[in-house]
This record gives sequence, C-alpha cells and structure tokens, in this order.
Amino acid sequence: MIATLLALVNPGDEVVVFEPFYENYGPDSVLSGATPRYVSLEPPNWTMDISELEAAFNDNTKAVIINTPNNPTGKVFSLSELKEIARLCRQYDVIAITDEIYDQIIYGEPDAPLVHHSLMTIDGMRDRIVVINGMSKSYSVTGWRVGWTIAEPAITEAIRKVHDFLTVGAAAPLQEAGAIALSLPDSYYQELADDYRARRDLLCQALDDTGFGFTVPDGAYYVMADISAFGYPNDVAFADFLVEEIGIAVVPGSSFYSEAERGSQQVRFAFCKRRQTLEAAASRFTKLT
Ligand SMILES: Cc1ncc(COP(=O)(O)O)c(C=O)c1O
Repeated sequence: MIATLLALVNPGDEVVVFEPFYENYGPDSVLSGATPRYVSLEPPNWTMDISELEAAFNDNTKAVIINTPNNPTGKVFSLSELKEIARLCRQYDVIAITDEIYDQIIYGEPDAPLVHHSLMTIDGMRDRIVVINGMSKSYSVTGWRVGWTIAEPAITEAIRKVHDFLTVGAAAPLQEAGAIALSLPDSYYQELADDYRARRDLLCQALDDTGFGFTVPDGAYYVMADISAFGYPNDVAFADFLVEEIGIAVVPGSSFYSEAERGSQQVRFAFCKRRQTLEAAASRFTKLT
C-alpha cells in the first residue's frame, strides 16, 4: 500500500478513504504527501452514501482506496456500489487501489453464497486500478508480510521501483512458500471460509446474548460492535474494562476513525481465534449480563 501510494500520489493530491478504515490508509496517504478525504460507511449496515462519495471527488482526487471484504466492519461491497465507485473513477480520472486481502474469507448464507467482486472486472477499470493482496489472511500467516500488487505495466513499473527502495523484497523462502500456497485446490478456500463462518457464528451469538449492537459480518473476521448499551463514556474506557475485569481484548473503535468521537461507542472484536478461546470469551461475557 505504501509503495503504491508513494509511486502514484504526489503532494497536493487527495485520496478518498472510506471510514471506519484499516489503520494504515490515512498515514500511508499522509506519508505520500496527499490529503485523505474520508467518506463514511454508516452503521449499523455500513452503507455507502453515493452523494457523500460524489462530494468527496474533485479535480485534485488522485486515488480512492477500497477494502473489500472490509476491516473493521466485515462489509462486502456490492457490485452496484463498486460500479458507482468505478463511474466516479472514470469521470475524475482517478486510480482505484483495492485491498482485497480478505477475498477468500466471505460468507453469505449456505443457500445464497456471497461472491467477492473486484473493481478490476468492471468496464474501464483495468488500466486504472491497483489490486493489492497478500498471504496473511488466505493462508493464516499474518506476520510473514508477503504481499503483491496487480496493475497495468506502467503503474506496476512505478510501484516496483518504489518497492525496491523500501524493502528490496520479501524474504525469498517465504515467497517460495507463497508460490506453493497459490496452487492449493478450491477445497482449501471453501474449508477456510466454512471454518471462519463457524467461528463468526459462535462469537456473534455470544455478542448478541450479551447485548452488543452489530451487523453480522459478510466477510473478513471482525465484528465492529456498538457498546452504547453498557454506559461507558468512551471506547477506550470500555476496552480497558473488558481486558482488566472480563479478560477479553478488543480494539477501541476510535482507532478506525479520523475523528476519535465517531468511534467512541464502538469496539472491534476479532474471531480469528481457536474455538476454545472463543468459547472461553463467550463464558466470560456472562459476567457482563
Ligand atoms: C485490510 C488489511 N490489509 C492489510 C493487512 C496486513 O497485511 P500484511 O499482513 O500483509 O501486512 C491487514 C491486516 O490486518 C488488513 O486488515
């Protein structure tokens, strides 16, 4: 992401970022000299307001960052939302940078499975998109930090130049393991999603029983929950209470917003944990009811 932004964005440019956002996008834009322009995904369903998005685009807009499936909300952008974003990218000559690192962790319902759509497949986007992905989530190796970008030749050449000066390259043995992982059969990905679905359902049931407000995530492995039922002044006070008194660690919601106030009644749970850990959490939650 930082290599892409440094390669494509210049001081004075603007980058549209949906919020709440994965923490890196704002700082990555600022490090590249650009100004982030935030567009809300509104709880509880994390809906995108087209008029707010339109208002964020202007002649200084250089890029828009889309993360689907989304951290921290679990939102999966619909095809019609992606088409609206693509329309604005074409109209304002903007590059879309899509972080698709959770593309294999997507749920839907057993009788109506959800499909991950990449903006790259939408008409007119092939030459104005950088798709970013990596091994961390699909192969459960967060910490390896092996990722890749896909873009048209002129764009990828610029990104490679910057990347060479930032890190030279990921560790060679990890890249070799990645090449093997990429040839795993479809059944591997189906099992991955089914396994996360079971963990999602376990955590969501516990959150529901405890009184948190939330929308069941369609993808990724997070639940962004509303904590207003518990009467705490803010998310950090509630997170401190949870870890100290209940023994459950969460990320305060404010860390996903440009203005802390907007996330002050939200916290993010992660269910990329062993089943026993989630069951222990469910039993600890009973102290809250
Ligand atoms: C949306 C998103 N992108 C990227 C990453 C990190 O990727 P990597 O492990 O390759 O640094 C994360 C990890 O939490 C993430 O949530």
